[in-house]
Amino acid sequence: MFKILKKEELAKSVKRLEVEAPDIVKNASCGQFVVVIADEKGERIPLTLADWDKDKGTITLIFQEVGFSTKKLGSFNVGDNIAHILGPLGHPTQVKKAGEVICIGGGVGIAEVYPVARAFKKAGNKVVGIIGARSKDILILEKEMKETCDELEITTDDGSYGRKGFVTDILKERLKDKPALVYAIGPVAMMKAVSEATRGPAIKTVVSLNPILVDATGMCGSCRCRVAGKTVFGCVDGPDFDGHEVDFEELQKRLNLFTQQEKQAMGLNK
Ligand code: FAD
Ligand code: FES
Repeated sequence: MFKILKKEELAKSVKRLEVEAPDIVKNASCGQFVVVIADEKGERIPLTLADWDKDKGTITLIFQEVGFSTKKLGSFNVGDNIAHILGPLGHPTQVKKAGEVICIGGGVGIAEVYPVARAFKKAGNKVVGIIGARSKDILILEKEMKETCDELEITTDDGSYGRKGFVTDILKERLKDKPALVYAIGPVAMMKAVSEATRGPAIKTVVSLNPILVDATGMCGSCRCRVAGKTVFGCVDGPDFDGHEVDFEELQKRLNLFTQQEKQAMGLNK
């Protein structure tokens, strides 16, 4: 059992939980994730390690309530126990001193890019953050990203905060500075657009993929993706991959595979 010590609402439908997980935190690194089963009847859902505290023995999960399991998890309160948390899983992000690193987060992906930005900064890089959301009310972790990055740029689709437009509008302007690396995490369309923007100038681009995970141990094959023309498993080979090699169309198609069942679980289409 994993006790919830703290709960916050960061934005509409985006929750942050600090959870007691002393064994998981020992080996936690940025870019890794855990599989969460909210209660004994729950399904397995992957969530990124958004933060952790090795002294306190806690991990932090930030998630958007998009369907049955994330809504159930969001209904838990301080003092409640999460039935199972498995991890840390996946390869940690490869962090080294490279020069200028642009870290891009879209939507709830900002929670996932934050520990990565922090690790690149700690490794001695100049870190430029670009974070974007549909509108101001769902933009998260601005303060944390500001404290971490040397420079932070903000976009909203509707112009309600920061610059109106997409994170890629700012990225394209910043490419003239020839960054050593671009790291992006967010919706598939965003990661695809980022990878297209950096392909021409041949700037190394790493994306963190979000295929549907089931067992997260490399056995079931549900998370398979095409990268560099080969089949890879997001759970054990990733989640980070070279953005210039990813087949994003196939990823999007596979993400839509269970739309019907997801609606049924929410009681929308019985
Ligand atoms: P559903 O109604 O079941 O699904 C809603 C959407 O989530 C659909 O688009 C579906 O394609 C996707 N999804 C459903 N089940 C899974 C699954 N088992 N694995 C992956 N995607 C699924 N979300 C966050 O909000 N915060 C995070 O830190 C985070 N980290 C992730 C890390 C990884 C490695 C991966 C693969 C996904 C991550 N996600 C994260 C996405 C999160 O796992 C899904 O939003 C969640 O599983 C949805 O479950 P649901 O029952 O609430 O919604
Ligand atoms: Fe089953 Fe990756 S989730 S192989």
